[in-house]
Amino acid sequence: MNTYKVALIVGSLRQNSLDRKIALSLIQLMPEMLSSAIIEIGDLPFYNEDLEQSPPESWNRFRDELNSSQAVIFITPEYNRSVPAVLKNAIDVGSRPGGKSVWNGKPAAVISTSTGTMGGFGANHHLRQSLVYLNMPTMQQPEVYIGGAGKLFDEAGKMTNESTSAFLTAALVAFGNWTDRILKP
Ligand code: FNR
Repeated sequence: MNTYKVALIVGSLRQNSLDRKIALSLIQLMPEMLSSAIIEIGDLPFYNEDLEQSPPESWNRFRDELNSSQAVIFITPEYNRSVPAVLKNAIDVGSRPGGKSVWNGKPAAVISTSTGTMGGFGANHHLRQSLVYLNMPTMQQPEVYIGGAGKLFDEAGKMTNESTSAFLTAALVAFGNWTDRILKP
């Protein structure tokens, strides 16, 4: 069995972020064929092409971590029917310099969340538009929209909703198979 290293990118910087709690739950639920870690994006200066002459240390760290990962799962809230600026900035930083994008060819999945009922549908699909351009083969099914995200965890941040946990487990198995299909020689 092939095993793959998956980068988890969380689109919220909030200390009590529900998306970060989902990412931490995913790490617990990963199938054997996937290993994963959260790659931090909160310290990346706004993308400015002038900085490429001497890239900030955090840009280099971020690009190196992504280059040593084989697949990516984005876990994002919805901000005004799109993705938070911090996530878009991370995508932009990773996409440059031209010809050296860290995203190119990597299998991806999108998990969107909201405290409301729509599960971040708008953010999920805005993000998919960028992933098409970035040449990331993105898992189509299952789509993962997590609504009512405020009700899934106990006070310690542990996921207590069993059906969401089972759904995420199945989605991760599907992502493992998707990654294998894209990457296996
Ligand atoms: C939101 N939220 C939100 N929710 C939604 O369903 N659709 C939306 O368009 C928005 N827009 C939005 C904009 C901004 C600036 C904020 C701060 C929030 C609510 C959002 O889903 C909620 O705050 C989540 O809990 C944010 O995720 P984290 O930080 O808990 O991971």
